[in-house]
Amino acid sequence: MKFFIDTANLSEIQEAYDLGILDGVTTNPSLMAKEGITGSDNILKHYKDICNIVDDNVSAEVISVTLDEMLKEGRALAKIDDKIVVKIPMIKDGVKAIKVLSSEGIRTNCTLIFNAGQAILAAKAGASYVSPFMGRLDDIGTEGILLIEQIVHIFDNYGFETEVLAASVRHNIHLIQCAEVGADVVTCPLKVITGLLKHPLTDSGLEQFLADYKKGN
Ligand code: E4P
Repeated sequence: MKFFIDTANLSEIQEAYDLGILDGVTTNPSLMAKEGITGSDNILKHYKDICNIVDDNVSAEVISVTLDEMLKEGRALAKIDDKIVVKIPMIKDGVKAIKVLSSEGIRTNCTLIFNAGQAILAAKAGASYVSPFMGRLDDIGTEGILLIEQIVHIFDNYGFETEVLAASVRHNIHLIQCAEVGADVVTCPLKVITGLLKHPLTDSGLEQFLADYKKGN
């Protein structure tokens, strides 16, 4: 399972990368705004800064919603660096844009997926990744993990090469559930990744080992 970090914060991306387990980054316009990155020049430069930290898979989201504009924007984003994956929303023109960009060899991540039908359409269009948002489904009282499981199952049935990128992953249990159902990728904030390190018995066990070592030396 690939680990992506879901942030536009450069020091958090660096921290996750330094852990040695990071496979990519997802961003969205809200995450960029949270870091105070505004204006197209600054946004493009910020994507380049992210690409300079990680080895591959930097999702950069288009902010247009018509086919021509999405194609123009997607091609410009893809030119920033070979590591860029163009993130396209699940709308009618988005599906068309995924088809065209993928035929040009540009990788795409279809975002804002909330049901299996949307995931099938994006995969048929040639998306490299689909991003079902499990946390936002939980927020409205449905079980997000069931959608991840359903999409994994459907893609397996037909051998779709599109990878299932579980998004809106908010805590450890989400991440472990994604691993159980076979999600190809999870994207989550740094605190979810570092949260995997923690167990009180690890801390107390280590403390005891070090104390016992000191007694004998
Ligand atoms: C995915 O690519 C999105 O950026 C993200 O996972 C959304 O998460 P949220 O629902 O916690 O905002």
